[in-house]
Amino acid sequence: MTTRLFIPGDSGAIALGADKVAAAFRREIASRGLDIEIVRNGSRGAYFLEPMVEVETAEGRIAYGPVKASDVGPLLDAGLLAGGAHALRLGSPDEIPFFKRQTRLTFARCGVIDPLSLADYEAHGGLAGLRKAVATAPADIVATVTESGLRGRGGAGFPTGIKWKTVMEAVADRKYIVCNADEGDSGTFADRMIMEGDPFVLIEGMAIAGIATGATKGFVYIRSEYPHAIRAMERAVAIARQAGVLGPAVLGSPNAFDVEIRVGAGAYVCGEETSLLNSLEGKRGVVRAKPPLPALQGLFGKPTVVNNIISLASVPVILDKGAAFYRDFGMGRSRGTIPIQIAGNVRHGGLFEAAFGMTLGEIVDDIGGGTASGRPVKAVQVGGPLGAYFPRALFDTPFDYEAFAARDGLIGHAGIVVFDDTADMLAQARFAMEFCAIESCGKCTPCRIGSTRGVETLDKVRAGIEPDRNLALVTDLCNTMKFGSLCALGGFTPYPVMSAITHFPGDFAPQIIREAAE
Ligand SMILES: Cc1cc2nc3c(=O)[nH]c(=O)nc-3n(C[C@H](O)[C@H](O)[C@H](O)COP(=O)(O)O)c2cc1C
Ligand code: SF4
Repeated sequence: MTTRLFIPGDSGAIALGADKVAAAFRREIASRGLDIEIVRNGSRGAYFLEPMVEVETAEGRIAYGPVKASDVGPLLDAGLLAGGAHALRLGSPDEIPFFKRQTRLTFARCGVIDPLSLADYEAHGGLAGLRKAVATAPADIVATVTESGLRGRGGAGFPTGIKWKTVMEAVADRKYIVCNADEGDSGTFADRMIMEGDPFVLIEGMAIAGIATGATKGFVYIRSEYPHAIRAMERAVAIARQAGVLGPAVLGSPNAFDVEIRVGAGAYVCGEETSLLNSLEGKRGVVRAKPPLPALQGLFGKPTVVNNIISLASVPVILDKGAAFYRDFGMGRSRGTIPIQIAGNVRHGGLFEAAFGMTLGEIVDDIGGGTASGRPVKAVQVGGPLGAYFPRALFDTPFDYEAFAARDGLIGHAGIVVFDDTADMLAQARFAMEFCAIESCGKCTPCRIGSTRGVETLDKVRAGIEPDRNLALVTDLCNTMKFGSLCALGGFTPYPVMSAITHFPGDFAPQIIREAAE
């Protein structure tokens, strides 16, 4: 009987050597004349264990990792095909603590199935949500999404059902679903993992959104830095079209819906929804003033749903299992699960999907295992380059939109980047201003000019030029940017800057004083 061997084709795993491991297995399989089928699955998200190879045995799947090409021969000698003992043997993936502690709803299949096998997708619960959707009235689909409590996972946390309702009620000859796959936040990779590891769940979520709102066309706007994800999505769309999941009659229903993949040109601001729409229309990626809302006048002036990948990929399970099932996870107004991406200087980096409500300390210390360098954690930046730096004193903050906002932070796309005690927070604050200056679309003055003045003023603080006065000036500038910017790039850059100043005041003494103290 053919043995199935799973070697991730996820680009994170490839960066860690998965392609070399796959090539080594192919060589050994040929020279030993073994009957093995290699499946390039997605990653389950424990990057500290990648490349993690799994073999299907009579006792279920057994994992080994992290595997190097040079381990392949000895692993086969040790009886890997039967789940044999070896120093790299991790046992059943479900029993590995990093996976066992998760609640996988959106990522249930990621790393488990063959990403481009529609049969495998269906065998693991895929298309159940869409089958329900084609037999449900649009208003009831929208009501289910609203009742589930799902909020946008792209950053702003806006209720998905309310956005869909606006588009559903808009009267127009064409409507669109736009999936935001620009994933520009530092330390984030959840969107990429879904596209590479379970692309059909995104297609299914988009098709449900189309049926619910009356949109017949969807676009996935993917950043150019994700070549593997682009390829996976293009192939998945072609397969879905051929199987009748997409096309003029979705699953044989009277609903038409098709998807097109578009590649961005590489600007952080093109992740902002109106800038993204301009880019999709072939224009420069400049932010549009709101109103009009994209839900009413979006792509090509038509009513448009713009949703993040994770928002859309969470919809199939909601339709399949019901609003109450999803809403039962979480805390406060943050319902369901959130794929937390743990990155930076951390021992156990990876994707951890859990119900809202875990504290930042649990995530960093228990799940992440502290820093990779072994030094004390100094700060954690949550929510990408516009997110605040949290000191250890705030590690009791639960992962919840409102709890983070109450502490002048944001969850954003749920990326967290860990820093040890060697981090220079003045340099980080300067980096935030510099990033804003480089990425600003230039439309409004507080962001375009303010960020450059911010870099100059922080440089004066470091040089010891009237440090107190200049630090007061930075605070003033941050207020102007926060309240005077047109979009969140200029409006949220003050979060990393001010949190660094507030929580790490010692780092803002002039360089000469800091060196004298060392
Ligand atoms: C500067 C900037 C960059 C953004 N980048 C992204 C991004 O890469 N991906 C994303 O989904 N949302 C991003 N957003 C948020 C989007 O504007 C928008 O809120 C989101 O796509 C809506 O989808 P959701 O409701 O499903 O979260 C960004 C916002 C700003 C201001
Ligand atoms: S805040 Fe910055 S990125 Fe946003 S519209 Fe203004 S200039 Fe453009």
